[in-house]
Amino acid sequence: MSWTRVTESENIPPREGRTVRFGDLSIALFNTGERFLAVENRCPHKGGPLADGIVGGTTVTCPLHNWKVCLESGSISKPCQEGIPSITTYPVMVADGVVFLKIV
Ligand code: FES
Repeated sequence: MSWTRVTESENIPPREGRTVRFGDLSIALFNTGERFLAVENRCPHKGGPLADGIVGGTTVTCPLHNWKVCLESGSISKPCQEGIPSITTYPVMVADGVVFLKIV
């Protein structure tokens, strides 16, 4: 498992997300304004593209039906529902203005 260079940090403005693809894997990479966080780019509700959602703090709101997903844990923060598994989160590192992802 190694760090993979993704882009320069200035290419993702604060409170925006971008889709990053590694083969069949689609990852939503966000700049929260404070740091960069990454989760799988598939809402656990009906598969909405989380990278296109609205970022607030460390949460993204899915663009399809407004579920809120915590970008730190991958858990659903709203609606509060039992039994919905968290989505995968990915480690992110920024070094010298470049964003790196660690893909497990
Ligand atoms: S697909 Fe994301 S809230 Fe429905």
